[in-house]
Amino acid sequence: MTVSPDPLRTADLTVLGQITSASNATLVCRAQDLRVVYKPVRGERPLWDFPDGTLAGREVASYLVSEALGWGVIPETVLREGPYGPGMVQRWIDIVQDPEGGPDPVDLVPAGEVPPGYREVLRALDPSGHPVSLIHAEDPGLHRMAVLDVLINNADRKGGHVLAGPHGRAYGVDHGICLHTEPKLRTVLWGWAGEPVAEQLLTDITVLVKSLPGELGERLSELITDAEIEALEARGRALLEDPVMPMPNSQRPIPWPAF
Ligand SMILES: Nc1ncnc2c1ncn2[C@@H]1O[C@H](COP(=O)(O)OP(=O)(O)O)[C@@H](O)[C@H]1O
Ligand SMILES: [Mg+2]
Repeated sequence: MTVSPDPLRTADLTVLGQITSASNATLVCRAQDLRVVYKPVRGERPLWDFPDGTLAGREVASYLVSEALGWGVIPETVLREGPYGPGMVQRWIDIVQDPEGGPDPVDLVPAGEVPPGYREVLRALDPSGHPVSLIHAEDPGLHRMAVLDVLINNADRKGGHVLAGPHGRAYGVDHGICLHTEPKLRTVLWGWAGEPVAEQLLTDITVLVKSLPGELGERLSELITDAEIEALEARGRALLEDPVMPMPNSQRPIPWPAF
């Protein structure tokens, strides 16, 4: 076996298992010494509002946007061949449990019992009828994820798509239904709605918008349509002109299920 200097892109994938709760064919694989997620295009479940066979490309495009911003919210993601044909391959993030048993970055707590450092998103009834609060951490990394979701128009930021990784860093996964031209933002990260976006993040967004007509745009054009790139640019410009986090004013602002 030849040893690859860049296993994510080139090492043979060995399938270790399938994530059965996933809605698409989501396989956990080994690429040399790396653990990765592999979602073959062939395993994508057709959706009414996103063209068939485009989800893997959207995952990679979302990763490139996160990198262009310099935010590192999304684990490294590439498009490549695998045992079931072309698909997206993403670095695996080992989840780090809080040793003190505190809540996850996105979690449910008894209604109103919001711990320090958390924000309440909504109150609801759990399946057994108990009132609960949906909360998320008030963390700079999670805030960048919320801003990224506005930019990439994420239609599916569930709690289960926010992973508590090593070194206290939150990572976002599952960006298959992002970057549509129509507004589709659905997220659990509404804790900053109506609040201003910090100057430093606006500087990063300016860099992103400026790089779209250049190399970034060229790379994105292999993954999403020109209209989708233009819509991304328009969302970036809109946030620069009115640097306030949007309010949840659509018909369905929270993904279902929320986790
Ligand atoms: N890069 C990753 N690192 C660690 N766990 C992951 C990663 N990607 C996905 N997962 C886990 O697998 C689950 C299903 O993956 P997801 O990307 O949501 O698949 P689907 O598109 O089928 O919904 C996620 O909720 C998460 O728990
Ligand atoms: Mg998912």
